[in-house]
Amino acid sequence: MDATATVTPFSTLIRTASHEQHTEAETSTFMSDLLGGRLGVDAYTRYTEQLWFVYRALEEGSEALRDDPVAGPFIQPELMRSTELERDLAHLRGADWREGLEPLPATAAYAARVTECARTWPAGYIAHHYTRYLGDLSGGQIIRDKAEKTWGFERKGDGVRFYVFEEITNPAAFKRGYRELLDAVNADDLERQRIIEECKRAFALNTAVFRELGEVFPLSA
Ligand code: HEM
Repeated sequence: MDATATVTPFSTLIRTASHEQHTEAETSTFMSDLLGGRLGVDAYTRYTEQLWFVYRALEEGSEALRDDPVAGPFIQPELMRSTELERDLAHLRGADWREGLEPLPATAAYAARVTECARTWPAGYIAHHYTRYLGDLSGGQIIRDKAEKTWGFERKGDGVRFYVFEEITNPAAFKRGYRELLDAVNADDLERQRIIEECKRAFALNTAVFRELGEVFPLSA
């Protein structure tokens, strides 16, 4: 019998390992209130601002990683979100959207960790890449639908462009391809374990942002 037949693919390991934290992020008070239609468009705007800081770190960092033997295969232009976030922010905040824009402390910490990984640990960068982009291609579509209905954005238009991957016509096929990249990642078992740990950290960093957003937009206010 093939000795490798029972080895669990890395894409399965990373999904399983982060499952609990996924549920935690998904059911966080802020996310539940936002998707439950209980918060105003100001909360959605503030959340989108935080995403911009995170994706700026992810995507500025990605330039130098294009030819990296470990992270390089994951850098795909069709995933890039900064331009879409900037269009959404121009719609939500106006043409001078950048003025006075500051990250929440948790967002600054998250973006700093992404930048640190991009500069010093390409395998760790993959954990952040996976946590955001695969999530956006999955649950992100549920968020878009809710946002359109709750705050009246045009379907797939300004305000929700972040969730629209124009160049990915078949997300399910894209995700399959992405999982194949994960399975083939150029890293030994120990390094794969470290990537999984970094993925858990990425989820925790997201949850911390939700927590701070929840403090800014308490339902009782
Ligand atoms: C209310 C918010 C959320 C909803 C409704 C949601 C929903 C989903 C759903 C339905 C899937 C499964 C898709 C599939 O099997 O192909 C998924 C996958 C995923 N989500 Fe979320 N999600 C949410 C929040 C998040 C957050 C905050 C993160 C992390 C920042 C995240 C990261 C991921 C990742 C990485 C996957 C891919 C798992 C894999 O197949 O390897 N999600 N999400």
